[in-house]
Amino acid sequence: MNEQVSLEDLYEIIYDKNNLSNAVIEINDECNFRCDHCYLGSKTKSFMSFDLFKKIIDELYDLECLSILITGGEPLMNPNFIDMYTYAKEKGFLVSVNTNGSLITDKIIEVFNKYCPYVVEISLYGYNEETYLEFTHNQSYNLVLNNISKLKNNNIPVKLKTVLTNKNYYYLDKLISLSEKLDIPFRYDYIIFPNIFSLESKNESRLDTKEIINIIRKDPSSKKHFNDKILNLKIENDDHIFQCMGGEQSVYIDSNGYINMCVALVNKNYNINEITIAETIRKFKEFKSTLKFDKTSKCQSCNKKSICRYCPARFKLETGSYSKCPDWYCDVTNLLIDEYDTFLCESLDETVLTKMFKIISKNMSKLYNTKITDDDFKNWSNNILNNTQLKTIINCDDNLNGYIQYMEFTDEKKICICEFEIASNKQGDGITFNKLLKEFLLEHNSEEYKNYIVYGNISNSNIHSQDGFKHLGFKNIDKNIYQIDLSLLQKNKLDLF
Ligand SMILES: C[S@@+](CC[C@H](N)C(=O)[O-])C[C@H]1O[C@@H](n2cnc3c(N)ncnc32)[C@H](O)[C@@H]1O
Ligand code: SF4
Ligand code: SF4
Repeated sequence: MNEQVSLEDLYEIIYDKNNLSNAVIEINDECNFRCDHCYLGSKTKSFMSFDLFKKIIDELYDLECLSILITGGEPLMNPNFIDMYTYAKEKGFLVSVNTNGSLITDKIIEVFNKYCPYVVEISLYGYNEETYLEFTHNQSYNLVLNNISKLKNNNIPVKLKTVLTNKNYYYLDKLISLSEKLDIPFRYDYIIFPNIFSLESKNESRLDTKEIINIIRKDPSSKKHFNDKILNLKIENDDHIFQCMGGEQSVYIDSNGYINMCVALVNKNYNINEITIAETIRKFKEFKSTLKFDKTSKCQSCNKKSICRYCPARFKLETGSYSKCPDWYCDVTNLLIDEYDTFLCESLDETVLTKMFKIISKNMSKLYNTKITDDDFKNWSNNILNNTQLKTIINCDDNLNGYIQYMEFTDEKKICICEFEIASNKQGDGITFNKLLKEFLLEHNSEEYKNYIVYGNISNSNIHSQDGFKHLGFKNIDKNIYQIDLSLLQKNKLDLF
């Protein structure tokens, strides 16, 4: 059978995680733009020679490295760019290029046509001349747009990206529309790190945490991304500060030939003219294996690393210590977790219940310092799946569109109410839900009410029940957390039933 395999699939097949697979090569640090956020700060005008580049490529070739990323500064400013690119391609590397897109000539397009790049990733720094100039201090907007179209028209793989800063965040939707109009994939990144050469500095361009959440909130693809991550947080027991593969599966080589673990961890210890890449990788591995958390580190056992994009190298740039995180990372992470504590699903089964359980147990333990055990969960899910108890009401139509409402009265005077939509196109009508509450309230005398806290409404959009809560006499004390309010309750006199 003659099956077609994409380049990405092929990469996955031949990718060897124990080996160096990618090298980022900064062929010059000079740039024709002056973006405020740039981690290179003021450039030293250093250009890598073609000979040095060849030496790097030959070593990478011997190490069976698969791909390289050519970057800068602005790499197309290097007079030897075409020779370098061609050399790497002729050696069989997958080659990507990071560029601001302003210096793409017809000659470069011709070379890209002959030797196709893996991807040309162009940073899009504005949606018109004015915003572009403000961001880059360069007037190349029309030129860049024209070059992007040329690449696209020549079927050269091109992608667009931007970094979100306090200068451009308010027109992100314009950048998205522009990339849609151009029919080119687009991504953005909200993590801006400081100048890599000045220790303990802050990047003034970085966006305020709340603004980041506002932006992500409007982005549907983020919902799934963060939900999956949040629901799969793992217990952390690795005491190594470095948990990434930087310096092992990938290296960053700067324009002077210094080999670094990554762009955020610059050093002047290992120069390719004095030490091989293989030997440097051994040094990096040794360094990483000896660097362990001390007991005071907040990050050691934190299980949110996949959400904050934990990076000791970036932390060191800001705090001066690999194991001390800047508040900003935790703040964004906690806001994200609060934001994405709900999820959508299409059918009700054990997996869905497990996810619900994780959300409930996490919030319960956060609030009351009590844990819901696996046994609790088993009982709970059995109740729900077998529908043996009145407390659990499942409403489903033939297409499994429906909702599940579940209520549990615990010994510790907590009511756990969970309303969960099985499909997004149908909402629970709240009547059954209210009926359960009525039963509960009638069973208890009013003095007791105030000791109960209600946890409820695990649902993607069910405002209905939140209103129901209010009518019934519950005040909202936190996201999804309600407390019985006696005065409200007496005022309403349970009339709603
Ligand atoms: C250094 S540039 C080099 C390539 C090219 N000049 C460009 O701007 O695309 C590579 C990428 O890093 C991003 N970048 C620069 N400074 C950054 C920072 N402080 N934090 C995060 N990303 C940054 C740029 O926006 C760009 O997308
Ligand atoms: S175009 Fe790239 S290298 Fe140049 S200043 Fe902007 S981010 Fe830095
Ligand atoms: S930066 Fe904050 S969220 Fe990330 S691992 Fe450290 S403590 Fe956890």
